[in-house]
Amino acid sequence: MIVASASSEVLAVHGGPPVRKTLLPYGRQSIDESDIQAVVETLRSDWLTTGPKVAEFEEAMAAWVGAKYAVSFSSGTAALHAAAFAAGLQPGDEAITSPLTFAATANCVLYQGATPVFADVAEDTLNLDPEQAASQITTHTKAILPVDYAGHPADLDSILQLAELHGLIVIEDACHALGGEYRGRRVGSVAHMTVFSFHPVKHLTTGEGGMVTTDNATYAETLRRFRNHGISSDARQRQNAGQWHYEMVLLGFNYRLTDIACALGLQQMKKLEANLERRRQIAARYGDEFRDLPGVRPPLTRPDVNPAWHLYPIRLDLHRLSAGRGEVFKALRAENIGVNVHYIPVHRHPYYRDHFGYEGGEYPVAETAYECLISLPIFHGMSDGDIDDVVRALNKVLAHFER
Ligand SMILES: Cc1ncc(COP(=O)(O)O)c(C=O)c1O
Repeated sequence: MIVASASSEVLAVHGGPPVRKTLLPYGRQSIDESDIQAVVETLRSDWLTTGPKVAEFEEAMAAWVGAKYAVSFSSGTAALHAAAFAAGLQPGDEAITSPLTFAATANCVLYQGATPVFADVAEDTLNLDPEQAASQITTHTKAILPVDYAGHPADLDSILQLAELHGLIVIEDACHALGGEYRGRRVGSVAHMTVFSFHPVKHLTTGEGGMVTTDNATYAETLRRFRNHGISSDARQRQNAGQWHYEMVLLGFNYRLTDIACALGLQQMKKLEANLERRRQIAARYGDEFRDLPGVRPPLTRPDVNPAWHLYPIRLDLHRLSAGRGEVFKALRAENIGVNVHYIPVHRHPYYRDHFGYEGGEYPVAETAYECLISLPIFHGMSDGDIDDVVRALNKVLAHFER
């Protein structure tokens, strides 16, 4: 436990010595020799794209999350687009999602010409509030896209019940939540379709990459076609069958993940459980350190979940501080702590304001949270010394700004 520093310590932002000499990022990949070897082996193989590693990675991921099917994509965004397509979203349809997310969650609805409709988040987890979602359902609603914010699984049973009642499809944006558990089940095995991202700051990386898991064979087939121009077979299947003939049966894209990326993903999977364990240790340490620290509210974990801790978003208690979020943020950055903010609520981006006429104030819980959110560094490669630095810096900065 690191004891709060004296408020007389001069902040780096005011010219004092920073807690660290180099910037600690908020998230970062870990790549070791075994990852490099796996990629090099694939570079020397016959297949660079859609070869044996793709199928192997998909099978491994489906088995690990406990789903029947997994379909890989070139990014989490491409995977979301494909899931929106497989759900049948089209012009005239609406899909309900959280405003407190990365824009891609809502954008995938727009890609299909449908309309994203936001519903406010629950105050404790900042995940989509099922009651708010229920209040936004109309005869046009076709899907709900809960987001597992920061890696804390959404209120999936309530959302699935709502979906069943109204005949909706649930696409869970689990880009933060690979390895998260909901009521004893791994994320990826609960919703109708679950979307993951393998961006470098995530629990495992393929550089860019994404995946959809599902138990539904029709969705899986549509997802596979959609990522390959809408063609009903891939080049390797045709080569193995000695055939050249193929048919394009729907309008798809080239959203394929390469064999090179999947080789990296397979190797990274071997470290996934250890990575999750390390993230949980870091979150537990932060929780212990910040529980009683004035001016800060650490993220809460509901008793029925085990979060995957992609992010560690604290909320500042601005009533107890003489500075706003912006000043605290700047002060932490000056201490070389690479804090970040997740997220500007999607409806407050100029594109959404201009196209949908949002003025601000529509989703008060998300908007109030946004004003005081700061994400602290959390990634599996963090050392104990890195964690100490974050704890020291937050203590130092908050001691200075405490009222
Ligand atoms: C909640 C959420 N959804 C979707 C995405 C998009 O994933 P990708 O960057 O792999 O396209 C991200 C990316 O970080 C995300 O955080």
